[in-house]
Amino acid sequence: MSKDFDNFVEDLQNQIFEQTKEDYGDVAFQRWIKPLYIGTMDNPDGYGRITGSCGDTIQMFLKFEDERVKKALFQTDGCGSSAVCGSFAAEMALGKTPDEIVDITGEVILKKLGGFPEEDKHCAFLSVDALQDAVNDYMIKQSRKDK
Ligand code: FES
Repeated sequence: MSKDFDNFVEDLQNQIFEQTKEDYGDVAFQRWIKPLYIGTMDNPDGYGRITGSCGDTIQMFLKFEDERVKKALFQTDGCGSSAVCGSFAAEMALGKTPDEIVDITGEVILKKLGGFPEEDKHCAFLSVDALQDAVNDYMIKQSRKDK
């Protein structure tokens, strides 16, 4: 039974992988398998947290150095697509100033992904909203420091 069961699980996993690759495209699939920049951060310089109309929440944590994002992490309680998009949003923020991060939009993330299921496109916009929320938090903290 053990061998049959192992084969069954392996076949099932392969089917899921193939289907996901077909639906998401290769770029998103690779990130779905290995979502980079996932995690939380103590005392981030900027913290964002947005809950979408789907009910999922994405959090974004940013550390800045010399006005540029030195470290970016995200966390989601949502779907696999939110993990893929959150991961790319964090990655694209690295090395950027707050002004440059404004240029990271949901469309930019979707373009980077190549193809993405229509019903999951809102996950890209949610991840960017969380990123922008973190930048806003950073800017507010900076303005308080200046006083
Ligand atoms: Fe809610 Fe993807 S379905 S973030």
